Amino acid sequence: MLENLRRLVGLNHESAPAPAKVPAPAGGPRHVGVIMDGNGRWAQRRGLPRTAGHKAGVEALRAVVKACPDLGIEVLTAYAFSTENWTRPKDEVDFLMYLIVEYCRREVNTLNENGVRINAIGRIDELPALQRDEIYQAMEKTRHNTRLVLNLAVNYGGHAELVDTMRAIAAEVAAGKVRPEEINEDLIRTHLYTAGLPELDLVIRTAGEMRLSNFMLWQASYSEFWVTDVAWPDVTREVLEQAVLEYKRRDRRFGTVLQQSR
Ligand code: IPE
Ligand code: IPE
Ligand code: MG
Repeated sequence: MLENLRRLVGLNHESAPAPAKVPAPAGGPRHVGVIMDGNGRWAQRRGLPRTAGHKAGVEALRAVVKACPDLGIEVLTAYAFSTENWTRPKDEVDFLMYLIVEYCRREVNTLNENGVRINAIGRIDELPALQRDEIYQAMEKTRHNTRLVLNLAVNYGGHAELVDTMRAIAAEVAAGKVRPEEINEDLIRTHLYTAGLPELDLVIRTAGEMRLSNFMLWQASYSEFWVTDVAWPDVTREVLEQAVLEYKRRDRRFGTVLQQSR
């Protein structure tokens, strides 16, 4: 059953199409990553348990997902649970796991109505069976949608992703399918969790911290970075619009000298 679902949703990296290396259209970012931080502090400021912040965070995600297609965003990667987040108190981890299932169950119809395809990146197979199956089912149910890819990073870590990528390539080398000298950036890209998705143009971090916290280490190498002090549960469509506006003002030089200054 699990294998069937995995095949159906095209989770197999080998079957993913070649990644688009096209830059974002002159306008806005095609692929936005959000480090949804500050739920705990948001709740504590209100004298509420941290879990209340996570619950409110789901509402913020709903608003942001809805706004993405209007802003021309094709892929939204939402950092929901990191490989490091297992070290939190058990109650909090349990609540986050519960929210993942709730989100998949409750949102799937609305997401379908809005043309959103759910995808997941991270070590999904290492999640408890309930969470794992619910995620695969949500992916299966929304797989035909084309307006937006909502890429949920769950049990995701940039280091773990690179380990998995290297293992996958090493297995191909061992099987004689790939020669070591054939390993290049494009081959690596096709083995990352994000194979087939456009380049990550913009990373948004809420709640003010100036770090990646193990988020998309390969993919963020040339992303624009935008940090706001707003805590994730307070994020609205307007905050996303502000980030996109700022992105459009940036010069993405990619190490070169821009035409006008030559
Ligand atoms: C982000 O909010 C949500 C997750 C990491 C799952 P936090 O829970 O990290 O909130 P703060 O950073 O403690 O305020
Ligand atoms: C990053 O936030 C992970 C997610 C948003 C899921 P954290 O709160 O876990 O990161 P640190 O502890 O500030 O680095
Ligand atoms: Mg945090």
